[in-house]
Amino acid sequence: MIDIFKEVSDFCNIDIPEETKVPIAIIGAGGIVDGAHLPAYKIAGLEVVGIYDVDQAKAKDVAARHNISKVYGSLEELLADPRSVIVDIAVPAALQPKIFYQVAAAKKHILAQKPMATSVADGLKMAAAVESNGIIAAVNHQLRFDEGVAAAYKMVDLEWVGKVTNVTVEVNLVTPWEMWPWAKDLERLEIMLHSIHYHDVIRWFLGEPNTVFCVAGRTHGQFPKGETRTISSYSYDEGVTALVHANHINRGGDNRAEFRIDGDRGSIRGTLGLLYDYPVGRVDTLEVNSQMLPTDGWTPYPVTTRWFPDAFRGTMGSLMRAIATGAPLRSSVADTVGTLRLVEALYQSMDSGASIDL
Ligand SMILES: NC(=O)c1ccc[n+]([C@@H]2O[C@H](COP(=O)([O-])OP(=O)(O)OC[C@H]3O[C@@H](n4cnc5c(N)ncnc54)[C@H](O)[C@@H]3O)[C@@H](O)[C@H]2O)c1
Repeated sequence: MIDIFKEVSDFCNIDIPEETKVPIAIIGAGGIVDGAHLPAYKIAGLEVVGIYDVDQAKAKDVAARHNISKVYGSLEELLADPRSVIVDIAVPAALQPKIFYQVAAAKKHILAQKPMATSVADGLKMAAAVESNGIIAAVNHQLRFDEGVAAAYKMVDLEWVGKVTNVTVEVNLVTPWEMWPWAKDLERLEIMLHSIHYHDVIRWFLGEPNTVFCVAGRTHGQFPKGETRTISSYSYDEGVTALVHANHINRGGDNRAEFRIDGDRGSIRGTLGLLYDYPVGRVDTLEVNSQMLPTDGWTPYPVTTRWFPDAFRGTMGSLMRAIATGAPLRSSVADTVGTLRLVEALYQSMDSGASIDL
């Protein structure tokens, strides 16, 4: 049975080959860089040549704790440093496009944080900037590299569940929104900042849906202004469906984060370990029940790495491999425009009460 899993675990391998490694400069010294990007790069043995943040004290503090020797005084100084080949941007989405264009014009390859932008129009301009400057640019949709999700993707690819009939993601969480003061007054919150990961992964599994429908809720006393519960459904050809139900104000305190893929020859079910105690969490769980395998009932797949920080090695490694070998990116800027289009359609549905054709 272990041999059967080998092809799946090979697909999930996020080790970065030595010959593809190139130096990185980072823009943004916030929570996600401190807690996930830099710990992942340390595990991978990557070189970070310098960091810049408009909040210089924050940049200095993060640099000191992660042994980064250079704190840039400005974006221009970062871009003028010939040592960096990749610029890793991690600032709030509304601020990212402007920085992205400057980095692209400096001909540095880019790993942008998600959401790449807050509108499809900005996403298209960013994709055009990638083309016109001849750079390679990926978006940090690292759930595509999270081991439980990536293993499920490969199991589907190997047809262990036959033809997929439905994908469901359900999370019911106590999310510490206070960690992101800049998100407090955002009109578009839950899908834009959180469930975008699930919508991106469903696109990765199933492609573009024909139609989506979304309703959203808020609850008394919540810290942020925007929606904190969303229920999104998708329909595809031949009766294939998908569902995301995400709630972030779980007053029962019993965090739950589950996904399930049903097919006509079996099912896969898993949990997203990170979300049981964000941002610490635990490893995912994953089980498969397949009529195509020599097993009896639900069989566990041994997940050994985590969404935070490990999957961040995946997005960066994919970019490094693309630069070194021309291999395709798993989450390119061009592809991610499709995720922004899907998110936009979900908000249109939420605002209008109608289903939206894509
Ligand atoms: N799973 C994930 O991939 C994940 C998780 C959390 C956050 N994020 C995303 O990462 C981004 C940053 O989130 P965070 O949690 O680190 O937020 P944060 O508020 O902790 O940090 C943001 C940082 O950006 C800096 N900044 C703002 N404008 C800047 C500019 N023009 N130039 C340089 N620095 C600037 C701020 O000073 C701050 O230090 C957001 O887009 C968020 O949605 C992604």
